[in-house]
Amino acid sequence: ADLELLVVGSANADLVVGVERRPAAGETVLGSDLAVHPGGKGGNQAVAAARLGARTALLARVGDDAHGTLLLEAQRAAGVDTAGVLVGGAPTGVALITVDPSGDNSIVVSPGANARLTPQDIRAAGGLLAAARVVSSQLEIPLETVAEVVRGLRPGARFVLNPSPPAPLPAEVLAACDPLVVNEHEARVILGDDAGDAPEEWARGLLALGPRSVVITLGAAGALTADSSDVVRVPSPKVDAVDTTGAGDAFTAALGWRLGLGEELPAAAAYAARVGAAAVTRKGAQDSYPTASELPTAAPDGPEAPVA
Ligand code: RIB
Ligand code: NA
Repeated sequence: ADLELLVVGSANADLVVGVERRPAAGETVLGSDLAVHPGGKGGNQAVAAARLGARTALLARVGDDAHGTLLLEAQRAAGVDTAGVLVGGAPTGVALITVDPSGDNSIVVSPGANARLTPQDIRAAGGLLAAARVVSSQLEIPLETVAEVVRGLRPGARFVLNPSPPAPLPAEVLAACDPLVVNEHEARVILGDDAGDAPEEWARGLLALGPRSVVITLGAAGALTADSSDVVRVPSPKVDAVDTTGAGDAFTAALGWRLGLGEELPAAAAYAARVGAAAVTRKGAQDSYPTASELPTAAPDGPEAPVA
């Protein structure tokens, strides 16, 4: 059977501490008890899709250590095919995360084994790439590895990229993105000083760089989708945010999966906004992801809203 989503990306152990406010340079603050959650943008995407019911596989690298075992178990429990998860070469990636009272987070990632996922590893996983109708990546693995993924796509396969953390992208990678998925921060870094202030401007600027389509995530304000024919605002259901960590990963995975099922970009983004909204209402990244039956109803007036 074909894979509805292959995620090629990072797997991290998320070490999370709640803080009243973040320390400045040279300062120490006391935070909450430590929580350890399975995370990493790649691992998060795979779990998000699998939990929604997608046939999903992860191609990643973890260390031969306790964090690696935790991450593999979390993937398997969600139903992700982990035959493509390589073990060894460096410690499992770790993300040091602080969450403030508003639910916003800041993250430092130690890539560890993620940095050792090589182009050769991608070529050796040709069977997974050949089976996937949608392939999704992020930038917590080497850019040259992402470029090899693009070269290995099966004809007609769709490639979805969240360039996070943002870095300059080669034309070959940009041209394959359908869509390129960014938040405001990523859009501004990629576009530089002339980014402009409106999401519509960012979308136009990003499309000019070569992707076939662009999706800009706007948090509680939903998302904006753009391709050569249409620019569409997609609202998000209203929810109370507890922890936004990994909500963008859940959005991107759901988006890619729905596009692979044949949905149009605005409808797929509206579905993804419901998934992202559910994810912010609970703590953690993967631990917060909904099943299909847990999704909030679509926002009124969106492309996915019930017909009155
Ligand atoms: O996008 C959220 C993720 O970023 C966290 O799970 C953390 O591992 C970092 O990679
Ligand atoms: Na969450």
